Amino acid sequence: MKENIIFRYKVIKLIRDYLGKNGFLGIETPILTKSTPEGARDFLVPSRLHHGEFYALPQAPQQLKQLLMVAGFEKYFQIARCFRDEDLRGDRQPEFTQLDLEMSFVSQKDILSITEKLMIEIAKLAKKKLTFKPFKVLTYKEAMKKYKTDKPDLRKNKNNPNEICFVWIVDWPLFEWNKEEKRWDSMHHIFTAPQEKDIKLLEKDPSKVHSWQHDLVCNGHEIAGGSIRNHNSDIQRKIFKLVGLKEKEIEEKFGHLLKAFEYGAPSHGGIALGIDRLIMILRNESSIREVIAFPKTGDGRDLMMEAPSKIEKKQLQELGIKFQK
Ligand code: AMO
Repeated sequence: MKENIIFRYKVIKLIRDYLGKNGFLGIETPILTKSTPEGARDFLVPSRLHHGEFYALPQAPQQLKQLLMVAGFEKYFQIARCFRDEDLRGDRQPEFTQLDLEMSFVSQKDILSITEKLMIEIAKLAKKKLTFKPFKVLTYKEAMKKYKTDKPDLRKNKNNPNEICFVWIVDWPLFEWNKEEKRWDSMHHIFTAPQEKDIKLLEKDPSKVHSWQHDLVCNGHEIAGGSIRNHNSDIQRKIFKLVGLKEKEIEEKFGHLLKAFEYGAPSHGGIALGIDRLIMILRNESSIREVIAFPKTGDGRDLMMEAPSKIEKKQLQELGIKFQK
């Protein structure tokens, strides 16, 4: 495990050096923030100064990095800690690390290209042989038809620990139908832009709209996901409505973003790469726990520190919290 942790440091150093050389600026964003929907449950932090109000820990710095584009930073990155309260498995932890990046005035090709070059450098560091160089690009439809999955593992020899296989999946549907809730859900997230050719279908037939989402699959694991974003508030509003948000909710949750877009936002897009998953694959491990210092168990516990744990009555009183029996 010590070797894994040392290797992890080397990969993160390579990422920082590589992006720095290519004009990206590292910016830190807050951990005590407001809920931003990435499809999981939020971890909440009660406020002592404002009883009854809560911060949410970021599931990803998604809205903040988009706001940094509006603010004129053009090329941002962050080795960002993210928090999602979801059921755990081998490649999922409640807190994990992303390489988050965002760029202004770019096409999807530009995002794939910079990410691919970075991945090739990392594969070199890990002394891995690439199955495809350049990486294979499949549309979502091709992947589903040919391989029955959106995470195909196309290695020629799966027993060779020195081989690594990256595949891009593009041309995703913007929405999927949520049968239980009887509404459209975003395939990626609600900030993903529809392809221009399909915008006229947004109201007529949302099922036929393709998006500018891109996922990177490595040896059958989804290691990165991103998209070109909406930078036009009218289209963003239409999408909020299609996923069932009411006018009041839109203003409460996303008013700040829509307002920022009205000042004339640059077109922008980006991607986030799961660092833990990438290191797990490069080190031929089967769980991300093996590449994280002080990971949590499958039921979200830190056994050494004994977290989560009970707290003093006084702490609860200060927060204005009482347990229901
Ligand atoms: P997404 O939700 O696809 O996109 O996350 C990006 C990548 O983060 C990793 N990941 C995880 N790793 C470990 N444990 C988890 N619980 C976990 N959840 C996700 C995966 C995944 O591919 N804001 C968007 C990115 C964007 O649009 O730019 C986002 O977070 O490797």
